[in-house]
Amino acid sequence: MRHASLVAGLALSCSALAGLAAVHYLQPAPAWVWNLPASFKPPRIPADNPMTEEKFQLGRRLFYDTRLSGNGTQACASCHFQHLAFTDGKAVSTGSTGEPTARSAPSIANTAWNPTLTWANYSILDLERHMLVPMFGENPTELGIDDSKRDVVLQRFRDDPDYRARFARAFGPGEAGINFSNLIKAIAVFQRGVVSADSRYDRYLAGKVQLTEAEERGRHLFFSEQAQCSQCHSGPTFSDQYADVTSREVRTPYHNTGLYNVDGKGGYPDGNRGILELSGKDADMGAFRTQSLRNVALTAPYMHDGSVPTLAAVLDHYAAHGRTLADGPHAGDGSRNPHKDPRLDRIQLNAGDKADLIAFLKTLTDETLLTSPRYANPFK
Ligand code: HEC
Ligand code: HEC
Repeated sequence: MRHASLVAGLALSCSALAGLAAVHYLQPAPAWVWNLPASFKPPRIPADNPMTEEKFQLGRRLFYDTRLSGNGTQACASCHFQHLAFTDGKAVSTGSTGEPTARSAPSIANTAWNPTLTWANYSILDLERHMLVPMFGENPTELGIDDSKRDVVLQRFRDDPDYRARFARAFGPGEAGINFSNLIKAIAVFQRGVVSADSRYDRYLAGKVQLTEAEERGRHLFFSEQAQCSQCHSGPTFSDQYADVTSREVRTPYHNTGLYNVDGKGGYPDGNRGILELSGKDADMGAFRTQSLRNVALTAPYMHDGSVPTLAAVLDHYAAHGRTLADGPHAGDGSRNPHKDPRLDRIQLNAGDKADLIAFLKTLTDETLLTSPRYANPFK
């Protein structure tokens, strides 16, 4: 309910601004240059939010600005740190009023290619709509912009001459342009522009560097029947949820990887039962989106709830065809989860294979993403 009325409100403020924008763009903005290696195709972009440098730079400031939270303590960047590939290094995050999130913060890099957003929600199809969750959501509170804070938050940006100039350059003149619809569009453009495509693996694909023997063995394994990894971690983003401008049919699969089996019938812990929470279907128990593996050496702890501490532990989990928790509230043998994706049972990994796979996964670290001033905090 809450989100439906929010979205309607945003649509209204957009059409009110259409006239202004038309006057401002007497000359068409130069086309966005994606600068992608051959293995990537440009992502799909919503027709009503084209990429521009003005929006990218405005969105970058907003992403790092703590004035974008009800109590002024948190920004998007408080849970998405550049040096950790835009994750936060925690199992779960903490919102601006101290509430924990249910799941672990994923990266924002390459989200332009994600056909659905978050770990387990097939109804959030674009970054614009996703942003309503951290900004206005109350379950849990993240940025905490509740009804009493909406005007206060916008006024902070309207009172700042630098933001007034930036909003005017991005969306046309007038204080009315400083509204949540435009603010969300700008942050979405920034996020779409945050691309990770310059890892050692990308340079290897481009023929610029060679992999070590262990990395090369790991690469072969990763794409093999023996390890099965690329069955789900496929394509340029290493996820089978992927879409670009050439995609005709976009699939949005979710998989149960046998992390839990709390009741012997395949149950996952309450509140984190995957897309079953939305669909209500038994078969969807524990089904989550395949996570991208780009920069995975930096994004520990792993899985939707951050319950797997290291890459070695992730590979032990896969080698055992599921995770067994001997005690505690979530005890159970995940390898016997009846909802588990059957491909997991085909995985055969010995100790050497696991080490080689880890060596390969480390080639997915992208120093450009971690250090580029273009993605960095503009207030520093
Ligand atoms: C309190 C910490 C926190 C804050 C603040 C926060 N996020 Fe997140 N973010 C998360 C968590 C946790 C998730 C995973 C949510 C889930 O799957 O249920 C997430 C998910 C995302 C995703 C989905 C990525 C994917 O691969 O699907 C994007 C994009 C994102 N956040 C962008 C933002 C933006 C933009 C802001 C600011 C408007 C923001 N976040 C503020 C913690 C946070
Ligand atoms: C059947 C599909 C499937 C196969 C096969 C598979 N994965 Fe995954 N992988 C997933 C899903 C789904 C998740 C998220 C699961 C969750 O959080 O509950 C995941 C999560 C991960 C993560 C954690 C990422 C993060 O940021 O938290 C790593 C690392 C990983 N997989 C590596 C591998 C490797 C290496 C292989 C091969 C040995 C492999 N996966 C095989 C579907 C698969």
